[in-house]
Amino acid sequence: MVNVTVNGTAAALAVAPDVPLLDVLRNHLGLTGTRYGCGTEQCGACVVLIDGAPAYACTTPVAAIAGREVTTVEALGSPQAPHPLHRAFLAEQAGQCGYCLSGILVAAAALLARNADPSRAEVAAALDPHLCRCGAHNRMIRAVQRAGRMLRGLEP
Ligand code: FES
Ligand code: FES
Repeated sequence: MVNVTVNGTAAALAVAPDVPLLDVLRNHLGLTGTRYGCGTEQCGACVVLIDGAPAYACTTPVAAIAGREVTTVEALGSPQAPHPLHRAFLAEQAGQCGYCLSGILVAAAALLARNADPSRAEVAAALDPHLCRCGAHNRMIRAVQRAGRMLRGLEP
């Protein structure tokens, strides 16, 4: 058994310790918001937060998260209680097909948690590990900065 804590909920799973965290999230916990892209740390689609820091779920063995807190995109908010990032991405029309967004949203949330007023360069650096085949990077950078302004109470 492997003990995990995901989005604040503890679970004991009968999986091999070397199974990728991404597989556990999607196929054992039903958290399909986190996506498989490349499987080799090249695209960022699988990124989740481990103890608040972005990490690749495609290459992290589930045993490595024992005693640590995993946060996935599902924990950011809901249609009834959206995160400022959700509202900002909609306002900037920063989501296109959406495939990359689960990783980008959690990475952006981690950035804003430590710096709610990031420069354009700081946002670009935080999102650099994430590929977006729709080419929406500029809109995403604007959206992250807009979410930062929301968090600082500078806009609704
Ligand atoms: S699926 Fe993990 S980085 Fe692409
Ligand atoms: S919105 Fe389509 S891959 Fe990023």
